[in-house]
Amino acid sequence: MRYLITGGAGFIGSHLADALVARGDSVLLFDNLSTGRLDNIQHLIEGEHSGVVEFRSGTVLDYPLVERLVREVDVVVHLAASVGVQLIVRRPLEALLNNVRGTEILLDAASRHGRKVLVASTSEIYGKNAAGPLHEDSRSSHMSTGANRGFRRSWSGCSTARAPGRPERTGWSFLGSCARPSPARI
Ligand SMILES: NC(=O)c1ccc[n+]([C@@H]2O[C@H](COP(=O)([O-])OP(=O)(O)OC[C@H]3O[C@@H](n4cnc5c(N)ncnc54)[C@H](O)[C@@H]3O)[C@@H](O)[C@H]2O)c1
Repeated sequence: MRYLITGGAGFIGSHLADALVARGDSVLLFDNLSTGRLDNIQHLIEGEHSGVVEFRSGTVLDYPLVERLVREVDVVVHLAASVGVQLIVRRPLEALLNNVRGTEILLDAASRHGRKVLVASTSEIYGKNAAGPLHEDSRSSHMSTGANRGFRRSWSGCSTARAPGRPERTGWSFLGSCARPSPARI
């Protein structure tokens, strides 16, 4: 099986690549090296694994490139993301674009070519829920203050760019519906 790992030079992506190669799969690592490092994957792209592991540099925001890569593989693991409260709070709009639009592009290309995708979530969505281990249906507690402040600031930036004539609070009510257990209203 050939896998595309977006964010393949990051923490989880590089370890996942180790595991896939060890079980005999081939891997295409894709990363813009914004926070990931070539050091993490050097041992894979050089030496004994060089035949089964390839690295391509680029961004998941580049639709034509993402579509080409998706076509080359059987399965996609989407791990490319702006990660970490500090990074999100420092560059909120860039993080939103990267995580939301990047995922949208990836899913669109995968669906167009009939490829399965595994998307990573994060325990951050459960906020300060202290119960453990957490499950997908665990309840979300409030976010950390820093994340909450950054999120509100960045979202208010987005909602001011709404389409003319759309209700003022569309964005907030959409996000509110995402936070509830029932399916989000779009
Ligand atoms: N590390 C954890 O404990 C953990 C736990 C649960 C979920 N996750 C999730 O797994 C995913 C990966 O986390 P990680 O810890 O490996 O983070 P990481 O920062 O080490 O990896 C993310 C990778 O994505 C790359 N990247 C960022 N934007 C990109 C873009 N536009 N195009 C291509 N590559 C891009 C970065 O360079 C980096 O290599 C994230 O979605 C994270 O929320 C992580």
